[in-house]
Amino acid sequence: MTLIFQNIRKQYGSNVAIDDVSTEFVPGLIHGIIGPNGAGKSTLINMTAGSYAVSSGAIVLDGRQMQSLKKYEIANSGIARTYQNIRLFDQMTALENLEVCYYPTEVGATWREVLWPPFGRSQRERRREACMEILRFFNLQGYASAEAGSLPYGRQRMLEIARALVMNPRVLLLDEPAAGLNHHETAELTAKLAELRSPDRIMIIVEHDMDLVMTLCDRIVVMHHGKLLFQGTPAEVQANPDVQLAYLGTANDIDEIRAAAQDRRAKLGIRARQRS
Ligand SMILES: Nc1ncnc2c1ncn2[C@@H]1O[C@H](COP(=O)(O)OP(=O)(O)OP(=O)(O)O)[C@@H](O)[C@H]1O
Ligand SMILES: [Mg+2]
Repeated sequence: MTLIFQNIRKQYGSNVAIDDVSTEFVPGLIHGIIGPNGAGKSTLINMTAGSYAVSSGAIVLDGRQMQSLKKYEIANSGIARTYQNIRLFDQMTALENLEVCYYPTEVGATWREVLWPPFGRSQRERRREACMEILRFFNLQGYASAEAGSLPYGRQRMLEIARALVMNPRVLLLDEPAAGLNHHETAELTAKLAELRSPDRIMIIVEHDMDLVMTLCDRIVVMHHGKLLFQGTPAEVQANPDVQLAYLGTANDIDEIRAAAQDRRAKLGIRARQRS
């Protein structure tokens, strides 16, 4: 299984947000996408998940062209995502947020569930247990019956990732999962994401937090003004002068990079608190 971007391009009116990007993502590895604000990172996620149409080029998963599929077909083919700005069902409980995303993949199961009460009950129990297990993985079991909108901000971020995992996706796309998290929460998130690395799953993480990216990612794509500027291992990215110049301005050592990332995280924390 591979996920391939073939010369993809995205235009919003006359603004070229993604310009001829080609790259490849493989299972078992955690891929990072980094780059300054407006570089096109979320646009790549949005196109892969089918939220935005691709202007030209192809997104190919396991030999299948995805860019012309409907959003639900893309979800059914095993691509799940989280959003840069959390989008939970605020009025539903944490458990319900997961349950609504869990559906039987067996043909006819939905009808059997409606028409045959014992089958329906066992399906509901199975669904509930599967969702509780995911909540437990994220230490969210204590919030199962709490309204999602009432959860602390950091728990909401975790819950969104939990929800993306309900259907055991082959491709997991995370758009700034650490945005607004404090140090402790970011460390917890980093550990959880490392556990999600699997030979059957392609993971792509868009993130500004350089500690998280450099610790977690095996391969990194660097975007700049809609173009793919560089790709390589964390060490190669850190050593590349183009990346240092384009992404980090004048910063040329990792301590400065980290300081810049922490500064940004602090600002995001303030934004997040204002939102909640
Ligand atoms: N829905 C949209 N309509 C019009 N222009 C958009 C839209 N979404 C993004 N853009 C533009 O596309 C470019 C890339 O934006 P994108 O959100 O992908 O950047 P990003 O790398 O995710 O930035 P950030 O780090 O701030 O999240 C920007 O110029 C942005 O203004
Ligand atoms: Mg973005």
